[in-house]
Amino acid sequence: MPSPEHVFDLHEVGVDYVTPAGVVSGVHDVTLAVPSAGITVLAGPSGSGKSTLLRVLGLFEQPARGRLCFRGTDVGGLGHAGRRAIRRRDLSQVFQNPTDNLLDYLSAGKNLRAAAESANRDCDSEALLDQLGLGGTASWPVTALSGGQQQRLAFGCALARGSSVILADEPTSQLDEQSADLVLDTLRDLARHDVALVVTSHDERLIELGTRVVRLTAGRVDENGDP
Ligand SMILES: Nc1ncnc2c1ncn2[C@@H]1O[C@H](COP(=O)(O)OP(=O)(O)OP(=O)(O)O)[C@@H](O)[C@H]1O
Ligand SMILES: [Mg+2]
Repeated sequence: MPSPEHVFDLHEVGVDYVTPAGVVSGVHDVTLAVPSAGITVLAGPSGSGKSTLLRVLGLFEQPARGRLCFRGTDVGGLGHAGRRAIRRRDLSQVFQNPTDNLLDYLSAGKNLRAAAESANRDCDSEALLDQLGLGGTASWPVTALSGGQQQRLAFGCALARGSSVILADEPTSQLDEQSADLVLDTLRDLARHDVALVVTSHDERLIELGTRVVRLTAGRVDENGDP
């Protein structure tokens, strides 16, 4: 049942892909509630459906079966424009490769301001950089930041947009351990904000941060609950 404490409610959601070898299911019969705060981790081996499920939540993938509600609204009943409006207003994505998340021709501060402007918001970029542990880098080209610092900035852009949901696909997988630590610190900090984080990962240290861990095996939810 949809609840105001859930940002997403999924009921028996299935996604199919048509391939030269026939129809492949990305996820099967997924029934799940995602709380509107804290970190929900989608964990599981390669091919288990983590990215597929994240694309469903990002309203990029239309399920072939089942029901997906966003804050109580059945998204299946919305057209392209309605889904795009939710994406623009409420959802931000952080991809695994840091350079896919930032505008490399803008400084760190300008990336934050551009993100805020894209959502018609103001942004105190210096204060946000301080909060992200990136104080003093406002005028730096983003290429001068380490991979971990770039991922921190990518999460900062999501905050600058005022998104209530941040969806991140393996945000530490392209980083060395030290850079990944920076991202884990940022996730710990964001978990204290009024924002729902949904993160896919193989990284046990990230999985441990989950206020909720959803384990997927071959497209199905395996185990579901607090770690
Ligand atoms: N665009 C696509 N076309 C065809 N099949 C796909 C497509 N995307 C995913 N699949 C299939 O759906 C299943 C789930 O894939 P998905 O990418 O969601 O897994 P994953 O858990 O994110 O894996 P990884 O850890 O490797 O990123 C796999 O069998 C995959 O081959
Ligand atoms: Mg994936």
